[in-house]
Amino acid sequence: MSQHESLRVRGRRWVKFFGQYVDERLHGLDFSLFYVSDLHRKVDEFHGYSMTDAGAMRKMLSAVPVAPAESAFLDVGCGKGMCMRCALESGYAKVAGLDLDEHLLSIARRNMERLKLNAQCIQANAAEFQGYGDYDVFYFYNPFGRSIFHQVAEKLIESQKTRNRDIWVIYYHPVFGDEFEKSGYLLQKELPDTTRDTVTRYYLYPKAA
Ligand SMILES: C[S@@+](CC[C@H](N)C(=O)[O-])C[C@H]1O[C@@H](n2cnc3c(N)ncnc32)[C@H](O)[C@@H]1O
Repeated sequence: MSQHESLRVRGRRWVKFFGQYVDERLHGLDFSLFYVSDLHRKVDEFHGYSMTDAGAMRKMLSAVPVAPAESAFLDVGCGKGMCMRCALESGYAKVAGLDLDEHLLSIARRNMERLKLNAQCIQANAAEFQGYGDYDVFYFYNPFGRSIFHQVAEKLIESQKTRNRDIWVIYYHPVFGDEFEKSGYLLQKELPDTTRDTVTRYYLYPKAA
């Protein structure tokens, strides 16, 4: 992308952010406002909060070849809950998000309550979470660094012992995508996101024979 194009894209993003922020305030919601956690200083490989755009998320969800009404979705590092909202609106039977940051989770719970949406907001470190077996589709928006990605990729595979099923990973801005590949996940497709000059990768770890 040229510098001129990149400035235009960023300008459009700011205008959109401002409109969204005002709309959220009017409805007692908070998804898009910046938040800087002090967990940065305390937790290794911690990446802070930023929100996936709702339109981009809906597109990403529609590209997963599962039947939402028969599938469960988990946002790993869910922040204020925008992706849980989109998954519920896309018809997923069960939706949850986990996050290390209790403050963000309290905002996510309030958002879900206001929207009358039923999503479970779980306080947990992704590297230690024991409940991956309950979900089929996992979303990551750059929540943490390489070694945590490695541990989580392995934990998802391990969770097939609890429940044998296809495991789908949607990885937006896939900085450490090679960790999934090294663990044996199959890259199924890569879709561009021109609003942020990045891509989404879809990985499958197939059901054991
Ligand atoms: C870039 S934000 C993405 C938020 C949300 N998924 C979205 O796309 O709108 C990454 C989130 O990961 C969380 N996070 C970072 N390290 C984590 C960890 N080890 N376990 C669980 N959550 C973590 C942060 O608190 C932050 O909310």
